[in-house]
Amino acid sequence: MRLAQPFAQPYVPPMTMPLIDPFARTIDYLRVSVTDRCDFRCVYCMSENMTFLPKKELLTLEELDRMCSAFVRLGVKKLRITGGEPLVRRGIMTFFKTMSRHLTSGALQELTLTTNGSQLEKYADELAACGVKRINVSLDTLDEEKFARVTRWGRLPQVLRGIRAAQAAGMRVKLNAVALKGFNEDELFTLTDWCAQNDLDITFIEVMPMGDLGNEDRIGQYWSLKDLRAKLATRSDLTELAERTGGPARYFRMEATGQKIGFITPLSHNFCESCNRVRITCTGEIYTCLGQEGHSDLRAPLRASENDAQLEDAIRAAIALKPKGHDFDYSRQQVDGQVSRHMSHTGG
Ligand code: GTP
Ligand code: 5AD
Ligand code: SF4
Repeated sequence: MRLAQPFAQPYVPPMTMPLIDPFARTIDYLRVSVTDRCDFRCVYCMSENMTFLPKKELLTLEELDRMCSAFVRLGVKKLRITGGEPLVRRGIMTFFKTMSRHLTSGALQELTLTTNGSQLEKYADELAACGVKRINVSLDTLDEEKFARVTRWGRLPQVLRGIRAAQAAGMRVKLNAVALKGFNEDELFTLTDWCAQNDLDITFIEVMPMGDLGNEDRIGQYWSLKDLRAKLATRSDLTELAERTGGPARYFRMEATGQKIGFITPLSHNFCESCNRVRITCTGEIYTCLGQEGHSDLRAPLRASENDAQLEDAIRAAIALKPKGHDFDYSRQQVDGQVSRHMSHTGG
């Protein structure tokens, strides 16, 4: 006699514990630096004579895929590709294409990048085809001469063409402008008006003490976004928006133009308590805080075996050490909490 078949049960994937750090913060945002190289040399990010890593130190594109896919399996919903300049990594479009399968499956909610814009003219269509809907472009000034000065090697018209190409490909573009006293203070309204006219969002960022400060006068450069906001408010009412992108910015609408302005305020208003992100460098180090030196190696566990058990254990072990936050502080008229690595190491 044949036994009756039990009712078919719907497939339930094995439970994976989400990534939760010691301060009960869920980690669902991964920033991956795919190269330490860049075609610019922004003064607050790199020194002019950088020594870059030999290619053999880098994770291959296949290894980057395995690494990111492991994080996606562990609950990462937002993946941001950074550098250096991510679009100068050879073969990077292959990587975007393979990552887009996690968007298609629904595991990933957002695949995006932060770029200096120099290569966007070339890659905008392909990025959009990979499901990238929104990108952040670093741009601190609309003055060609000042742009050349702050980026050392950059050319503004090339970046502006890149931004237009990204928009034409259907991607939403947000500018990231580092607020620098005595540098772009006088361009606040020029920048915001230009964004309103060109349907761009903009986020201002307080300058952080990272890298070899050399002759950089961080205290002198620091323009608190409290002051910047007060200046904007002389022009228009600002209404705080509930909207969150999963990043550290808080957003306001400028009522006069209806445009969206973001504020990233590591110095004047610490946002570490809601931190949801970790960073991987192009050599497979994990930094669980932008503002601390601590990091662990994920490349050895990744390469140790073809299955990801050791890698997943190493990821969980690293997240168990995530610090409470950064110690950046200029309030005593001196730079405290400085981090020795350059911003380009972890891509911001
Ligand atoms: P959205 O998805 O648009 O919200 O982007 P995002 O702000 O998460 O990413 P983006 O690359 O535009 O980041 C902007 C900058 O904010 C970075 O380059 C850093 O300078 C700064 N930033 C991002 N995350 C952190 C963080 O955890 N701590 C600190 N101190 N600064 C951060
Ligand atoms: N402080 C704040 N933001 C910085 N960025 C680079 N260096 C610094 C710094 N010292 C920003 C750039 C870019 C992103 C990758 O990081 O403007 O948008
Ligand atoms: Fe390059 Fe970006 Fe650093 Fe500028 S901020 S040097 S564009 S990585």
